[in-house]
Amino acid sequence: MLSRIHGGNLREVKEKYGDDAKLIDFSANINPLGPPTSAYKAILASLTKIEYYPEDNPKELKRALADYLEIEPENILLGNGSAELIYFLANYYRPRKTLIAAPTFCEYELAVRAVGGEPVFFELSPKEQFFFPKDSILSQLGEVQMLFLGNPNNPTGNLIRQGDLLEIIEEAKKQGLVVAVDEAYIDFVEDRNRFSLIGEAIKRDNLMVLGSLTKFFALAGLRLGYLVTNGRLVEEWQAKRPPWNINCFAQAAGVAALKDRRFVQESRQIIQANREDFQRNLSQIKFLKPYPSEVNFILVEINHPQFNSIWLQKTLVRQGILIRDASSFRGLNDRFFRLAVRSKRENEKLIEVLKEILG
Ligand SMILES: Cc1ncc(COP(=O)(O)O)c(C=O)c1O
Repeated sequence: MLSRIHGGNLREVKEKYGDDAKLIDFSANINPLGPPTSAYKAILASLTKIEYYPEDNPKELKRALADYLEIEPENILLGNGSAELIYFLANYYRPRKTLIAAPTFCEYELAVRAVGGEPVFFELSPKEQFFFPKDSILSQLGEVQMLFLGNPNNPTGNLIRQGDLLEIIEEAKKQGLVVAVDEAYIDFVEDRNRFSLIGEAIKRDNLMVLGSLTKFFALAGLRLGYLVTNGRLVEEWQAKRPPWNINCFAQAAGVAALKDRRFVQESRQIIQANREDFQRNLSQIKFLKPYPSEVNFILVEINHPQFNSIWLQKTLVRQGILIRDASSFRGLNDRFFRLAVRSKRENEKLIEVLKEILG
């Protein structure tokens, strides 16, 4: 059985290693710029709202999100993080079998298992740079009722071509399958509209796109995610989800963040430039192989005769650096770890330490 392991467990790591120094966290894939200042201001301005229930179907937030995504509010279902919506979908459709990538984000598998379903896996192979195996997926569709895809995929960081996805969605429709595409990291992609399926999801019955404000807007603690699909399904699901699932601070900060176009532009530019430098520098370190990435994290393979990613994580924690040992991802092993792209200075610090450790 897969266990629930995520990055960003700073407290747990500090307890385990007895280190209360400040850690640089490369293990959680959050925008290193932190939340927009506008979001902090919005939260402070709404402190007095905590004695009231939050708006159940928050109009202003939905309008801001609809404008950001260039769709209509009728196509949006909000969630307490996109994780809530992954579980909502699994619970609503209750698929007997669900097709899921290996490696990918563990919650797709945990959500289908939680409702008694069984995951069926397709392999993303390091030998093929984790390239999306469209033909093998098409051939497996007959075995399942649902398909979960990460685009971009965590932890591999790569994107699926829109043409390939549309082919799969069309075939899934013919066979009566539902497809959920998780775009939690798509805001980091340079040309998000070339890859996002939001425009398709609003027209279709068998396609749901999931999104999140956790990663790009660095609002992980507030819990704010969304689902986009056709208006009829959204209306039905509005009545079936728990009430008041978006708290007053998430509502206020969400509106401010989504309207903060300068933050959006700056984040994309800085992270992209930092990723390119980071990737180039990592590829020059002996025994390390970074895989291509379109987002704010990089999957790296360590091919050292003695050392693996578990050893590397332990060694780096002692130097105040936390990485995500990726051996817990189904389909990977202890040769893989994942690094979030952080500030130029922090990335350079890690490169220096890695060079020292690995020679
Ligand atoms: C691919 C992917 N989807 C969804 C989530 C969950 O995001 P949220 O904070 O919106 O629940 C994560 C978090 O790690 C993730 O990596």
